Amino acid sequence: MTAHLKFDKPDARNRLDDMAQGVIGAPLERSEGALKVTGRAVYAAEQARSLHGAAHAAPAYGVLVRATIPKGRVLSLGREAVLAMAGVRAVLADACFLRNPAQGTAGKAPVQGPEEVAYYGQPIALVVADSFEQARDGAQRLVVRYAEEGGALDPEAVTPELPEKKQSAQGDLDRAMREAAFSIDVSYTTPSMAAAAMEPHCVIATWTGDQLLCHGSYQMPNYNAPELADSLGVPAEKVRIVSPYVGGGFGSKLGIGPEAVAAAFAARELGCTVSVALSRPQEFEAITRRSATSQRVRLAADAEGRLTGLGHEALVSNLPDESFSEPVAQATHFTYAAAHRQIVHRIARVNLTPAGSVRAPGEAVGVLVFEAAMDELAEAAGIDPVELRLRNIPDADPETGKPFSSNMLAEALRDGAQRFGWQARQPAGTRREGEWLVGMGMASAVRVNMLGEAKARVTLSPEGTALVETNMTDIGTGTYTILTQIAAELLGLPMQAVTTHLGDSALPDGPGSGGSWGAASTGSAVALACEAIRVRIAGLMGCDEEELTLKDGRAICGNVTRPLPELLTEALQEEGHLEPGEAGKAVRNATFGAHFAEVAVNAVTGEVRVRRMEGAFACGRILNAKTARSQCLGGMTFGIGMALMEEMIHDARDGHIVNHDLAEYHVPTNADVPQLEVHFLDERDAYGGTLQAKGIGELGICGAGGAIVNAIYNACGVRVRDMPVTLDKVLEGLIAQGID
Ligand code: MOS
Repeated sequence: MTAHLKFDKPDARNRLDDMAQGVIGAPLERSEGALKVTGRAVYAAEQARSLHGAAHAAPAYGVLVRATIPKGRVLSLGREAVLAMAGVRAVLADACFLRNPAQGTAGKAPVQGPEEVAYYGQPIALVVADSFEQARDGAQRLVVRYAEEGGALDPEAVTPELPEKKQSAQGDLDRAMREAAFSIDVSYTTPSMAAAAMEPHCVIATWTGDQLLCHGSYQMPNYNAPELADSLGVPAEKVRIVSPYVGGGFGSKLGIGPEAVAAAFAARELGCTVSVALSRPQEFEAITRRSATSQRVRLAADAEGRLTGLGHEALVSNLPDESFSEPVAQATHFTYAAAHRQIVHRIARVNLTPAGSVRAPGEAVGVLVFEAAMDELAEAAGIDPVELRLRNIPDADPETGKPFSSNMLAEALRDGAQRFGWQARQPAGTRREGEWLVGMGMASAVRVNMLGEAKARVTLSPEGTALVETNMTDIGTGTYTILTQIAAELLGLPMQAVTTHLGDSALPDGPGSGGSWGAASTGSAVALACEAIRVRIAGLMGCDEEELTLKDGRAICGNVTRPLPELLTEALQEEGHLEPGEAGKAVRNATFGAHFAEVAVNAVTGEVRVRRMEGAFACGRILNAKTARSQCLGGMTFGIGMALMEEMIHDARDGHIVNHDLAEYHVPTNADVPQLEVHFLDERDAYGGTLQAKGIGELGICGAGGAIVNAIYNACGVRVRDMPVTLDKVLEGLIAQGID
């Protein structure tokens, strides 16, 4: 049976607060953690091991060939020479091949066709051979002739489009700027960035008749299966995608990728299993990047530091025909009050690696820059940066007037400041320890919160064990653990009595992992299924569900206690189905927090070392204190990367990505990450689904880089507005100031 809830009304019951077992919220270890650290969790590419058995024809390996021009047409492929090479079985370049991955939640094929080249690095052919090495050799030797056309490579040099729906304006910002007691008008840039997930994309495709099975690494099998089917021109029900373990996604695995279509097509053509994995450079070149941005922020304030006007204009880029444009000012709409407001998004169509969602799209870059600008205003107005934020928190969404579902920004700012020791902050450039200039900075953290449609099936066996099934994924976030916790809590079972199966498109549709919506959405579906099972158990006990206690494998009603195996004669199965409804439309739903950072800047070299960070976050109900904390540690670490090192460099001549590996594209490593403290504020959000929970994964990154950039200014008085803040840029400022 189905327990369907259309979420039209907020749910303020908070019934999980009073459950018998107290499992929800507990800092439990990841249930699949031991499998991962002992190498027993089988990732997509490793499935090849099981395909060498006698039952299978020998699998073939495919390697994608990339375009080496930014724009033009493929005239010919030197197929014959490659086909003559040892082990090579085919050189394929079918029209179904993908130009670029699908965008998140697309659910249909992205732009296809390998002959039209739109960027350097675009997959244009697949060489298939008996071994991976033979396929790679063939791919490297394939001679491609092109008719090259001039591409657009510089977003600043083309006339941008203004996407409808991404603009808003109230009042008269220009006048507010003219009449302000304090104002700033500053421009920042952020570079292209890579998702840089550890596990590269890989698909192993096998057809059985007209049925396709793909082992792959994807965040959203519920969308990815139809995307793949549409790309291949087959009905969606003919495609099954299995992604039980995903070695990081960060947006790069939201949509089906070129490896899947190429592998599936080759497997159909050759009648054998085909495995296609991307190389690390292909991960950078052919998978969606975070768009580079140019951002102008204008802030106007009265003498007390109350904002009278704010403006946030952003220029981003993407390929032609892509619907995604980085929503830079997404949080600017509602973070701070100001009567006069203007938000502008422009998108430049360029021939560069496609842009898409990467780790908190919008806020990651938008909040970083906006919060750096707020720091500049605080400095100009002589107001403490925390106090400036506190004075500008709106009572309701300042553009729509809708109430917040919950807004704990003020609490987070105060709590974080107190834990961090913010009162010890000194004026810019006044704290020195030997050759290190030391400073503190802060930023608000803001991220929109979403619920997605989610289904989950829960089966309680007569032996008193439970099975949770949904095609939601665990991309390293803890989904297995929290869904197991929810079922264990609501069914009164020990954790080890509950098994959770994820990441198989054949299972009930979860929303997938993306936009931090997975836990609250899928968790609600699991809870709904469990509640329906509780109703049936209550029926067997002859009581109401509200009177029922399930604990340690027993059902308790009044003074009657019965072990589940004694009570149940058959398995009880229910499917929970959460459908977002009217509730979410009535409010502005977001997560809030505050970041604090202490950095040291070397006065001689300009090198920046982050010394410590403190994050205070409000994300609704915390489902597992340990996995939640880990999410925020990851987000803050991304913030260090955005502030100090992450930068994808496009060659100005042809757009090719120069630093296309993890040796040259720098992400923070252990030595770059100091002690990070995370504190969660107690919050229940009645608009957060059945669990009163909200997204966590992405909040930790939003604003984290801003706190670091602001701390650098406080340390040494140098304001770098061109991310990342590398030592050469700091040094230039230090020299200009005469610091040594
Ligand atoms: Mo996220 S960038 O929606 O994986």
